[in-house]
Amino acid sequence: MSKNLSDLSFRKGLKYNLFDEMGKLAQDQGAPSQEELDALAEEFLIGKANTFGTASFYDFLKPENKGKKVYVCNGTACLCAGTQDSLIENLKTKFSPDEIGHMTCLGRCHENSAFNYNGKNYSGDNANDLNAIIDNQGSNNDKYNVAASGAQILTAEMSDVDDYFQVFKDTLQRGRDTALSEIKLSNLRGRGGAGFPMGLKLEFCKNEPGDVKFIICNADEGDPGAYSDRYLLEERPYSVLFGMMVSAFIVGSNHGILYIRAEYPESIEVVQNAIDTLKAKGLLGKDICGSGFDFEFKIIQAQGSYICGEETALINSIEGQRPEVRVRPPYPAQRGLFNKPTVVNNVETLAAVHYILNNCCQAWKDIGTERSSGTKLVCLDSLFNKPGMYEVEMGTPLATVVNELGGGFKRPVKAMQIGGPLGGLVPVTAIDQLTVDFESFAQNGFLLGHASVVCVPEDFPMIKFMEHLFEFASYESCGKCFPCRLGTKRGHELMQKAIEEEYKIDKNLLDDLLTTLEEGSLCAHGGGIPLPIRNTLQYFNEELKTYFN
Ligand SMILES: Cc1cc2nc3c(=O)[nH]c(=O)nc-3n(C[C@H](O)[C@H](O)[C@H](O)COP(=O)(O)O)c2cc1C
Ligand code: SF4
Repeated sequence: MSKNLSDLSFRKGLKYNLFDEMGKLAQDQGAPSQEELDALAEEFLIGKANTFGTASFYDFLKPENKGKKVYVCNGTACLCAGTQDSLIENLKTKFSPDEIGHMTCLGRCHENSAFNYNGKNYSGDNANDLNAIIDNQGSNNDKYNVAASGAQILTAEMSDVDDYFQVFKDTLQRGRDTALSEIKLSNLRGRGGAGFPMGLKLEFCKNEPGDVKFIICNADEGDPGAYSDRYLLEERPYSVLFGMMVSAFIVGSNHGILYIRAEYPESIEVVQNAIDTLKAKGLLGKDICGSGFDFEFKIIQAQGSYICGEETALINSIEGQRPEVRVRPPYPAQRGLFNKPTVVNNVETLAAVHYILNNCCQAWKDIGTERSSGTKLVCLDSLFNKPGMYEVEMGTPLATVVNELGGGFKRPVKAMQIGGPLGGLVPVTAIDQLTVDFESFAQNGFLLGHASVVCVPEDFPMIKFMEHLFEFASYESCGKCFPCRLGTKRGHELMQKAIEEEYKIDKNLLDDLLTTLEEGSLCAHGGGIPLPIRNTLQYFNEELKTYFN
């Protein structure tokens, strides 16, 4: 059935997109009405239950969103920094409690006190002048350090657009096989979490038959603490677009889709401007530079759901289906968006392609470690003395990142959550053991993931941290498989009871629950949440023992 829905969703092409239309219908009131959803269902020849099932899934399409005016960030960095309670009190001087909603991570982890009003994000001291913000006169600027400790690639200043895209014109001349071979030999691995080699994915898709294929940029950066994709989208948009255009040329695709989270309104604007510039320069459209290659971009604005970062949920989302994770195989490279071969890559992965084609595969391979080549962006939150975005060569000691680049901690910190909610919880005692690369983290029982760093201060109770993780996992579960749908909820209840009542958690019961999640979950959402929980139990046993029997 969902295969048919994919085909039906594509009936009107990519330009008139079902999910996009739902987003537009939500703009005025905060959610589409039932009548509007029914009319869309009729237009796309799908059931009314489908449009209802989709709209009711998303934070910014569901009926509960109606009437919300201001959204307070409830991500991990703002939670650990402890800034949001006073922010809410401040906002209550201008908004009724019913008008205050939440958004999960606005990518302002370096300043906290983050909130969204009228389509703009604010953080740090911005909220001091709410009157100006309400009058659309307030500053929404944020500041963070940007630096590289070794090779500077992703954070390097860009030459002008024409120079930068000369490499694309050269690529069109040299042919798709040469470009593919360079990317494969560079051993560029995906930066979205799983570390899958980009070249292999492109090759699989290239080898699939079919005239219609898609390149998707996964810009749904949902990991609280991560703002490196936001940085690239807003400060280096051409590097991301370049990577997509080369990918499309290699696999034979004419359509690039950027799925950008609604929580990053500025990113959407900057990327759209960059697309318009490329179009004006004749680098998009039909028969680009007389090469016979046609290519267009489309931005799809997400609507508030963490699981849409998982690539198959993301594909369902673009199709306007309820964004449940798909069973693999078939993999997206075989049957992805609208049942067509599709490559999904993370923003940072795509941004690395220009350097590889401009300098050759070996130049990228020479940086980093043997299995983790190149550089990696690491973002540090506000509990560092120098919060910001740092580009490091893979294999750089974590201690260098924490103590030299980050300048150490502002106040006592006991652990860092690295790699988002599904990443590990690294106690400060383990800092000297780790280097920033996939292997070091995995060998030591952690996960590099997207390499965002959120500090847990000494005075933040670890039981509360585990409660937050389970609550997040349960709220964001797509609900497709039982272990995750039920297990994350039960985990949250256990933690809540231990905090609120004289309840002692049975260690074996919790262990069984974690094993069920690890072994029974369909995707890495349910399968991944046990890792930071187990890290917390292992390293903070002493602090937590009062909650267990
Ligand atoms: C729960 C979950 C959330 C994810 N969120 C993101 C995300 O926000 N951005 C991203 O690029 N990848 C995310 N991923 C990984 C994607 O499924 C996919 O592996 C990635 O986009 C592939 O790109 P890459 O090969 O360039 O890393 C997520 C995976 C899971 C299981
Ligand atoms: S593990 Fe969770 S998010 Fe993943 S498919 Fe199962 S229910 Fe959905």
